[in-house]
Amino acid sequence: MAESAGAAAETFAPPAAFAAAARVKNRKEYDELYRAAAANPAEFWAELARRELHWLQPFTQAREWNYPFVKWFLGGKINASDNCLDRHLTGPRKNKAAIIWEGENFEQRILTYQDLYRRVAKFANVLKAQGYKAGDRAIIYMPMVPEAAVAMLACARIGVIHSVVFAGFSAEALKTRIDDLGATLVITADAAQRRGREIPLKRNVDAALAECPAVRKCIVYRHKNAGIEMKPERDAWWEDLMFGASEVCPPEPLDSEHPLYVLYTSGTTGKPKGVVHATAGYLLETLMTMQWVFDIREDDTYWCTADIGWVTGHSYIVYGPLAAGATTLMYEGAPDWPEPDRFWRLIEKYRVNVFYTSPTAIRSFIRQGDKWPKRRDLSSLRLLGSVGEPINPAAWRWYNQVIGQNRCPIVDTWWQTETGAIMISPMPGAVAAKPGSATLPLPGIIPDVVDLKGEPVAAGQQGYLIIRQPWPAMFRTLYNDAERYRENYWAKVPNVYFTGDAARRDADGYYWVLGRVDDVINVSGHRLSTMEVESALVRHAAVAEAAAVGRPHDLKGQALVVFTVCKGGVPKSPELVEELRAWVGQEIGGFARPDEIRLVDALPKTRSGKIMRRLLRELVTADKVSGDTTTLEDYSVLLELAKTKGDEE
Ligand code: WT7
Repeated sequence: MAESAGAAAETFAPPAAFAAAARVKNRKEYDELYRAAAANPAEFWAELARRELHWLQPFTQAREWNYPFVKWFLGGKINASDNCLDRHLTGPRKNKAAIIWEGENFEQRILTYQDLYRRVAKFANVLKAQGYKAGDRAIIYMPMVPEAAVAMLACARIGVIHSVVFAGFSAEALKTRIDDLGATLVITADAAQRRGREIPLKRNVDAALAECPAVRKCIVYRHKNAGIEMKPERDAWWEDLMFGASEVCPPEPLDSEHPLYVLYTSGTTGKPKGVVHATAGYLLETLMTMQWVFDIREDDTYWCTADIGWVTGHSYIVYGPLAAGATTLMYEGAPDWPEPDRFWRLIEKYRVNVFYTSPTAIRSFIRQGDKWPKRRDLSSLRLLGSVGEPINPAAWRWYNQVIGQNRCPIVDTWWQTETGAIMISPMPGAVAAKPGSATLPLPGIIPDVVDLKGEPVAAGQQGYLIIRQPWPAMFRTLYNDAERYRENYWAKVPNVYFTGDAARRDADGYYWVLGRVDDVINVSGHRLSTMEVESALVRHAAVAEAAAVGRPHDLKGQALVVFTVCKGGVPKSPELVEELRAWVGQEIGGFARPDEIRLVDALPKTRSGKIMRRLLRELVTADKVSGDTTTLEDYSVLLELAKTKGDEE
């Protein structure tokens, strides 16, 4: 990121043809919008909320800010499913494709808004018939199929709070989330598919539920015809329950602040955090960013390649696009299956106009070679997006030239699970891009770069990225842990929201996000907690201690390296390394398997016994340690560590 990070960096003005047709057409319009919003954020958002959302009862107060707890649109009644479905049915969107789905084996399904509405209403009635009601919690552990969206929207329709668990998570991780949430319902499928292989979702659910007696019901969508066991009473097939269910299910009028969902994300401890999002504010901002950032149009085919198990999938496959009445493409499968051109083939086939993916994916496309995109027709594309990690300027340029054919603006969108919606990103028709910078904040978002006392740092200087004012899609708390919410996010720097990211703001006011400052690392755009991996490892019988750190990785952004001390008498062996990697996969999920495990005799510690991760980080990054080691208990430990090089994947 050191490359050209500053005011002097190369800029790319919005392509004239794009700007002419865009909602926000030039920098002046953006500036005016931004200024108006900053002058009175609460009133700015309230006006949009009145205009852009469908209310079942109007709200009476825009905002209540009781630091650090916020409420938006008080007194209002609203329903997310109503906003994503019902309101599109009275006009020309009724028979418009809401979801276009393609499976890895090229299966295809197209659900119109009317179709999707019917399924959601029926499934909501199924849930009601099973005794579920507003405030109950449901876990959704599903493949990338339209039924995942149906399940989310059906929960939303009756006020059941959903928590989608990424299908790559293990049974153990699933169980932890079910427990923390006190969920009484699990919605799953027999299996998912990836690279031709079946992933046994229901089997993982069975393993988790063996220890979750509070779950009364498990509804199973038949996706792959995988042979599975059904437990009488507890388990039921989706199709059986749907058969004959009524299609009439009026949306429940819910408070603006009713929790729409909880999504677990990694923090700096071993315990994942349940990020709670509220209905109205979240809907408003996911919808507004569909307009401001993706400049969504009625005839667009829009594709976000994320998984619904992450926040990007929630906000930009399901809620944002459907609230906007857009056509959202959903692909279940790997980007390189059966060949590395699968994404480009999908773009060609469905004439995708807006394409949103991650820097890790882009870097892997670069590695596979230009011939794959070049043999497909990408002329339908008009806008490209990036999310999840800083995009390195070289990847940005390739994306621009080879995929966008120098015709499509690129929106580098900075946001987080906690922010709910995109916060910093160019408006594609109005703000010039600088490769590697997420550029400027969206209207109503007031960030800054400060030191730990909260003092702004000078232009070009590195500091902490913070947000000064609450925004509608902001998470409301951590599930059952308001204290951790306050401590983690609102106490590190006084009076502001602490993002956990380091950033620089250049002389043009552009933001350059540099990465996390906490013990969270970003592997392939997925957030991983080093503590979570460490606690998984020490649960293994052979392990005494572990310290996980990130090191820069060409493809994934960061790779996970774990220094592991075994219990006395356990011999070091390559087999043990493999066993430990597999163990982490089993404890958390395959995506968390360390890239490297180094078996060592001891870890460097301070005199008070704290592991000096900073030194380990330097060791894996530079292969030597130059930082301050004066508090190090035993310097020889470090010399030993420098000699051990683990097996790389
Ligand atoms: C962290 C949030 C919300 C999208 C998926 C990740 C990093 C995200 C960017 C970007 C630089 C970015 C930050 C952030 N990040 N987008 N455009 N430029 N960094 O969600 O798992 O909640 O992770 O991802 O470090 O704090 P998440």
